[in-house]
Amino acid sequence: MMRTARAVVHRKGRPLAVETITVAPPRRGEITIRIAACGVCHSDLSATTGTIGLPPPIVLGHEGAGTVVDVGPETSGFAVGDTVLTSFVRMCGKCAACTSGHPARCEHLSEALYTLPDGSVRTHDASGEPLNVFCGVGAMAEYVTLHADNAIKVDLGGVPMPSAAIVSCAVMTGVGAVTNTARVDPGSRVAVFGLGGVGLSAVQGAHLAGAASIIAIDTNADKLAQARQFGATETINASEEDVVKAIRSRGGVDYAFECVGSAALTGAAYKCLARGGTVVVVGLAPTRDEACFRPASMALDERGIRGSNYGSARPQKDIPALLALYRGGRLKLDEMVTRTYTIDQGPQAFEDLQAGRNLRGVIVFDG
Ligand SMILES: NC(=O)c1ccc[n+]([C@@H]2O[C@H](COP(=O)([O-])OP(=O)(O)OC[C@H]3O[C@@H](n4cnc5c(N)ncnc54)[C@H](O)[C@@H]3O)[C@@H](O)[C@H]2O)c1
Ligand SMILES: [Zn+2]
Ligand SMILES: [Zn+2]
Repeated sequence: MMRTARAVVHRKGRPLAVETITVAPPRRGEITIRIAACGVCHSDLSATTGTIGLPPPIVLGHEGAGTVVDVGPETSGFAVGDTVLTSFVRMCGKCAACTSGHPARCEHLSEALYTLPDGSVRTHDASGEPLNVFCGVGAMAEYVTLHADNAIKVDLGGVPMPSAAIVSCAVMTGVGAVTNTARVDPGSRVAVFGLGGVGLSAVQGAHLAGAASIIAIDTNADKLAQARQFGATETINASEEDVVKAIRSRGGVDYAFECVGSAALTGAAYKCLARGGTVVVVGLAPTRDEACFRPASMALDERGIRGSNYGSARPQKDIPALLALYRGGRLKLDEMVTRTYTIDQGPQAFEDLQAGRNLRGVIVFDG
């Protein structure tokens, strides 16, 4: 059935606004979800500033949790009533990357970044014009029709929807960067640059992995003050101290996670590495920015730089594991959700993200 929904829409040259849109029923391979909660990720903000080049008009949001309300024809794996998280990475489950245990590198990844995989959209504005959707999702809306490969069926087992929503991007990305991409060993020395939803999840991942020291770095004093409850052993305020000097004077780190989205910080993170150390680039810098490092030191010191998409997620295994860690009291999710918003307060949630007022802001929907 055709539905109407309130949604956060970014239009070129206009302030972010909440509009009433239409959401068409699912076609083959698609499902419609009633969104219960959707986190506000820096990547959504980056789509409004041009840092991430997705063409407007576009429905934002990719960190969603909700319930399946409609299943397209010949679509397997989902039934009405299922609880699902959205995935900003389409994971087909069939290509070489997916079948070799690397679904976050799915061959279909870059095919449809702002439409559904067939190149069309199910979302239209009040005058019938098509609206793109962030990474094939567009979860800042009461209803979303997306491809089933962009949804992960979950058994929440008591995890509140707002806390579950942030697992679908920030927590999977941050924890996964540490445990899946870098495979941090117990006893390692770790630095995390940027303490938003992603960075604080990396801090938690490092804690879970048994890192001996976890240096949390930010320019925002409030975030630094909260980092210890997530496992940080030390904090550095980058607006007051020379981070590279401070970390080098401690002997450097084995792993440095860049969770801000800055080429300059990637270069700084590299300078913080001890021999054999690795920078893991998680933040999304503006597409054309370039980072600087000395290749000779890579060879002589066996240092490295690598990237991490979606925490190298294997969602069928990793998402239930993260939810189980929460239930066991070993992963903090509720503490990360520092404010919830109604859909009509969506633009305020973006302002607050930009101003660094939340660890994670989450839009919560009625019903
Ligand atoms: N690779 C992926 O799969 C993936 C997934 C999700 C998000 N991201 C990216 O990760 C980054 C972080 O996302 P988020 O939602 O956690 O963002 P956020 O805005 O919540 O957090 C970013 C943090 O960085 C801090 N910061 C800014 N400048 C700094 C500096 N010079 N030194 C130290 N800290 C600084 C801010 O104060 C803030 O606390 C973004 O670039 C986002 O696009 C990547
Ligand atoms: Zn995100
Ligand atoms: Zn695939």
